Amino acid sequence: MEAYWNKGIKEVIEQFPEVENILNEYDIGCAPCTVGTCLLKDILEIHSLPADQQQELMTRIAEAIDPGRDVKIPRIKKNRETEKKEITYSLPMKKLVDEHVLIKRLIALLPAVVENLDVESQEGRQLILDTIDFIRFYADRYHHAKEEDILFKYFDENLDILKVMHEDHKQGRSHVKAVLEALEKRDGIKIAEHLTAYGRLLSEHIKKEDDILYPWMDRSLSISQIGKLFSEFNETDGEIGYTPAKYEAFVSRLEDKFDSKKH
Ligand SMILES: [Fe+2]
Ligand SMILES: [Fe+2]
Repeated sequence: MEAYWNKGIKEVIEQFPEVENILNEYDIGCAPCTVGTCLLKDILEIHSLPADQQQELMTRIAEAIDPGRDVKIPRIKKNRETEKKEITYSLPMKKLVDEHVLIKRLIALLPAVVENLDVESQEGRQLILDTIDFIRFYADRYHHAKEEDILFKYFDENLDILKVMHEDHKQGRSHVKAVLEALEKRDGIKIAEHLTAYGRLLSEHIKKEDDILYPWMDRSLSISQIGKLFSEFNETDGEIGYTPAKYEAFVSRLEDKFDSKKH
């Protein structure tokens, strides 16, 4: 059994598909993970369940892997949603979570952008360019740069969880590139495809960061590291020569535009 704690999760799930269902019951979804080589024991550590639930989960996994064993499986309490505790973030992590809020507002608008896609008019093309400008500069340069160039450097970048995050950022960039290429060819179908895929990718990515990565990082960093991180974030924000206010205004404008179409 111990050998499995040190195995990659995808491999364990391949051999014992039931493990995936069990993890899902504890809101630990491994399917959206693009790397999937996290070790079973690391997954349990990173997700940090309360001690009793962790014990319960380990018992159930042990049962799934080695059914002959005489293990007692405690019942899972229903309605886990209401039991979920509010996450308290450190200041630098809170800053990133707050930036996600604006990115999520933009993601929520992407279906309307796609639905109203117009590659023939100047106005329609400008809307796509403005959306891409937000993604490139606010979501990527302003936000992801803080993660990649500062935050992730506090950790071993060979960790699978960080490889997953880097891979998501990379995939996001390739969707942006594809949208711009499609815009040159005025290919509305391809634009719609890549904007939709970007929205799906980023909302899963943000969820992983808010719920799993940042709380785990907060638990792992010392108080002085957290202080240093926060001043580095503020420094880099100061160096970037544009203000997020421009992007907040863009998102609000877009919300008004599509909202007024509904009424
Ligand atoms: Fe990220
Ligand atoms: Fe992020």
